[in-house]
This record gives sequence, C-alpha cells and structure tokens, in this order.
Amino acid sequence: MEIKYIIENSKKMLDKKVEVSGWIRNHRPQKEFGFIDFSDGTCFKHLQIVYDNTLKNFNDVAKLLVGSSIKVTGTLVKSSGNQEFEIKANDIEILNRCPEDYPIQAKRHTKEFLRENAYLRPRTNMFQAVFRIRSLAAQAIHKYFGENGYVYVNTPIITASDCEGAGEMFQVTTLDLEKIAKSGKVDYSKDFFGKLTGLTVSGQLEAETFALAFSKVYTFGPTFRAENSNTKTHMAEFWMIEPEIAFCDLDDLMNIEEEMLKYVIKYCLDNAYDELEFLDKFVENGLIKKLEKVINSKFTRVTHEEVIKILKESKEKFEFEPEYGEDIAKEHEKYITEYFDGPVFIYNWPKDIKAFYMKQNADGKTVGAVDLELPGVGELIGGSQREENYEKLINRMKELNMNPDDMYWYVNLRKYGSCIHSGFGLGFERLVMYLTGMENIRDVIPYYRTPGNCEF
Ligand code: 4AD
Ligand code: MG
Repeated sequence: MEIKYIIENSKKMLDKKVEVSGWIRNHRPQKEFGFIDFSDGTCFKHLQIVYDNTLKNFNDVAKLLVGSSIKVTGTLVKSSGNQEFEIKANDIEILNRCPEDYPIQAKRHTKEFLRENAYLRPRTNMFQAVFRIRSLAAQAIHKYFGENGYVYVNTPIITASDCEGAGEMFQVTTLDLEKIAKSGKVDYSKDFFGKLTGLTVSGQLEAETFALAFSKVYTFGPTFRAENSNTKTHMAEFWMIEPEIAFCDLDDLMNIEEEMLKYVIKYCLDNAYDELEFLDKFVENGLIKKLEKVINSKFTRVTHEEVIKILKESKEKFEFEPEYGEDIAKEHEKYITEYFDGPVFIYNWPKDIKAFYMKQNADGKTVGAVDLELPGVGELIGGSQREENYEKLINRMKELNMNPDDMYWYVNLRKYGSCIHSGFGLGFERLVMYLTGMENIRDVIPYYRTPGNCEF
C-alpha cells in the first residue's frame, strides 16, 4: 500500500488495517514505545508510525537508525500529536538496517554537501520536491503538446550537423586517438560513420523536416554542448523541448510559448502544492505567489533595440556596456526582467549574433528571433521564425562560410513546399529552476555534467 493512497483516502482508511514499506526519515525511540517519521516517496508527506513494547522485536526496532528500510503492518488511527493520523504498528519487519555512517541524517544539509552525495539526495525533502516537480513539468509539456495536436518526434542524438554553428559539439568517434597521435593525421573516412560526427546541440533542423510534413511537431530530448562555461545556468548535458510549427510567424510563436509556459506552471500548482509550499518556505520565499502571478499576467514584448535603449538610459553601472547590434549580458537580462517585473520576450535581434537559419527582416540588420527572459533564470527560451526563402538562406550560409551542400536536406525544404514556419528551444532545467526556486542548475538534474565533472 502506498502512503499517497492512505493520505488521500484517510477518512475511508481510518481504523483499517494498513501495510506499508519504506524508509525511516527520523526516529525517536523511548523506553516503552517509539515514533518513526516514515516515507515511501510516493507523495511529499510522511506518515508517523507509533509502536510500543508489545512488538515482538521491540528491542531491535528501537535500535533502528535513520535510512533503514522497514515493512510495517498496523492500523491507521487518529493521532494525538501534530498530525491528523498515524499508523499504530502491530508488526515491523526490518528489511535493512542502515549503519551510523549514513550521510543523510534528519537535519538540514547544505546543497553543496548534497551535490557531493548526489546519489543519496533524492531522499531529502528538498530533492523529493525538486524531482517530483521536474517529473510533473515534463508530463505537463507532453500533455500540452498532445492536447494541441502536436506530433512528438525523436530527433537523432548522433548527428553530422552543428545546428547552432557555435562549434560546441562533442565529437563522436571510434578512431583510436593514441594511434592518430603517433601517425600525426586523421582520416575521418575511416571513422565509424565515415565522416566527422558529434552529439546533437539541437534537434531543430531535423524537427523542421517533420514540421513541413505534420505542421506541428515537438522534440523533448537530451542535448549536449561542449561549452567551457561554469555558470549556474549552463551544463554540458541538458534537456531541451523544441516545437516546430508550420504556417506560424514570430507573433504566433510568442503566443504559443506564453500559453505553454502558463499551462505547465498551472499544472505544477495543481499537482504539486505540497512540494511548492515546502520550496516556498525553505528555498524561495514568495515562490507560489510568483508562479500564480505569472499565469495571470501578460508577458512583456520588446525589441532588442528597445532593450538596449532602456539599458543605456538606466542609471545602473553595468560591468559590460550595453550596445546596439550586440548580445546582452547576464546582468542586462537581470535588469530587464526586474524592470518589467516578470517574463520578457525580446525579439528582432541583430543578425550578426544569431544563427544562420533565422528569418532575415526587411531592415537588413535584424532577424526574426525571440528570446524569453525570466527573472532569476535569464534566458529560458530561444526561438525564431525560420528563413523560408531558398536564395536568402543559401546566401546567408555562404556569408558564414557554410557549405549548403553539406545540409542539402535542410535547404531543400525551401525548395520542396516551403512555407513560413517557426520554432523554439526551451531549456528544461532552467524551467525547473524557475518552478522550484533552485538557484543552481546542478540541483535540478539528477547527475550533472559540467567541465571537469562526470561523477556517478
Ligand atoms: O538558444 P539556444 O541555443 O537555441 C537553439 O538551440 C535553437 N536551435 C532552438 C530552436 O529554435 N529549436 O538554446 C535553447 C535553450 C536556451 O534558451 C536555454 O534555455 C537552453 O536551451 N540552453 C541550455 N541549458 C543548459 N545548459 C546549457 N549549456 C544550455 N544551452 C542552452
Ligand atoms: Mg539562445
């Protein structure tokens, strides 16, 4: 029997026989009786187990330490203590005795300590909350796209094309590096795929091929970037959601992003209130208010040019001077989201700092790209309308020294039934950060991959 079931059906279960299996989170043994704070992880709440010396193995049970696993048979009864009800045990079977050196004790541990013990941290209240919300958010995303008629596409993990063109691909090879070091030359035609390949940095390009067949598609998968940045919002392996929609322009795209985000937030508020209450209390004060406010607000939409103007006119002393035609820094993102006090769409970005596939605007200087910035997180979503004109796309690729022949299957989409289309990429971990209030991206993924770190 699951604790979740017992708690949700407590009225019906009262005075009935129950049987639960799980772990001791805290234990207060007394001379003739004892209290166990018990959890099986099926819901955020714990149950209290009360036992006394009528248990046949009372002395052994009384010695149980935090972390031990047990199977309890008893009766659900009204509690005289803080909680509404508890289990009065008739029998406690000891499944595994946890020794004293168990790192996760019934006290507050630092996030750094828990990161070092990442294989045990799902057992703490904080990470129970974070990973339950991560799971619910993923389910909400599938639900949103499913309800709206999108086809779910699995784009390849191993690929020969660097979508973002940023040179951040991890190479995939079966070539013998030591042999190559000795011979001094590399022959990729001898490699497993007969060419240079790597792990995907984005499923967008392949998703576009499906969008021009199904109209509405999305991917949700692992994404890899060999960028050497040690920040609180970057990892070498993260998960990205990438919808791609035909007959959709930049305005429509912003509407979809806003609707989807609100749907996911609402789903978490509806299904993880206990977890959010805990996080509100111990991680980010005001978290629930923040989320409720966002689902009832209209997101701000400003151009990149307007953003630079606001930054330049502010009295703020920035480390990096904001400049027209240039990218914005983390400190600028922070200022802008605080300035507008909520999520901000920044659209029409300078062409030269964005990827080759973006829709070239009539001004010749900007592209139809849009980033969604969130307070406390920064860039959550990067998206754009795609250049659907064959000549314009080819010309842009040539300007960037890309060979269109290498991506014939991509450029041909502009020849074979081309149409206006748009899509975006949402960094899933950054969304979980926003939903949970966690400040470090390493704390919202089970096992993080960052430069120099591949533990577990
Ligand atoms: O802005 P990006 O690079 O956009 C693309 O890759 C497009 N091809 C997406 C598309 O239009 N289909 O990445 C999208 C999002 C970012 O906004 C960010 O949230 C997340 O992916 N992201 C990362 N998250 C964690 N660690 C990293 N190293 C990340 N790099 C990007
Ligand atoms: Mg981006």
